[in-house]
Amino acid sequence: MKNLAVFSSGFGSNLQAIINAVKKGKVKANIALVISDNVDAYSLVRAKRAGIDFLYVDPDDFNDRTCYDKFIVKRLKKEKIDYVVLAGFMRIISDYFVRQYKNRIINIHPALLPSFKGTQGIKDVLDYGVKVSGVTVHFVTNILDGGPVILQNALAVKDDDTEVSLAERVHSLEHKLYPQAIDLLVRGRLFVKGRKVFVKK
Ligand code: GRF
Repeated sequence: MKNLAVFSSGFGSNLQAIINAVKKGKVKANIALVISDNVDAYSLVRAKRAGIDFLYVDPDDFNDRTCYDKFIVKRLKKEKIDYVVLAGFMRIISDYFVRQYKNRIINIHPALLPSFKGTQGIKDVLDYGVKVSGVTVHFVTNILDGGPVILQNALAVKDDDTEVSLAERVHSLEHKLYPQAIDLLVRGRLFVKGRKVFVKK
């Protein structure tokens, strides 16, 4: 069984969806660790409730991003973590971290990449006025929100959508798509060739 570490800075609804999918046997993996950069993250409460080890790592305790990530990578190796799942982790991952876990770090983004990169995807979608948006799961590289795309799913943006209503539909799409992508990953079914990700039958 592969070991996952899930990184979350906030509410952790995606973490919860992954916990539930593991419990139901839809994702055949072990969530070995939850990591947060925010001491108040609700995701830490979710981890505790689920009996999963969790760790808060305070960015202020480190001189720079690489020092922070070196500390984390050391812990990940100690815990024999196979894959890193970013689920609303609001920090940029250093090149060092990306190299250590090449093609083993994934992220979920609340828009159809390469459109609407960055931390305000849902707001940017509404401001731009696109009619279709969605969700993207991708590998993490040193290009922000720019790694090879694993899975995407689309949804219609409604004329009367607000950030709240659109976020609600985006999140329910995320909660289905992320466990699917993680399951493919831990089963060794994903192959990266250049920018493309192939799913082995
Ligand atoms: C999600 O919308 C995800 O796409 C983005 O951050 C949000 C995290 O939500 N990267 P939650 O903490 O999982 O509820």
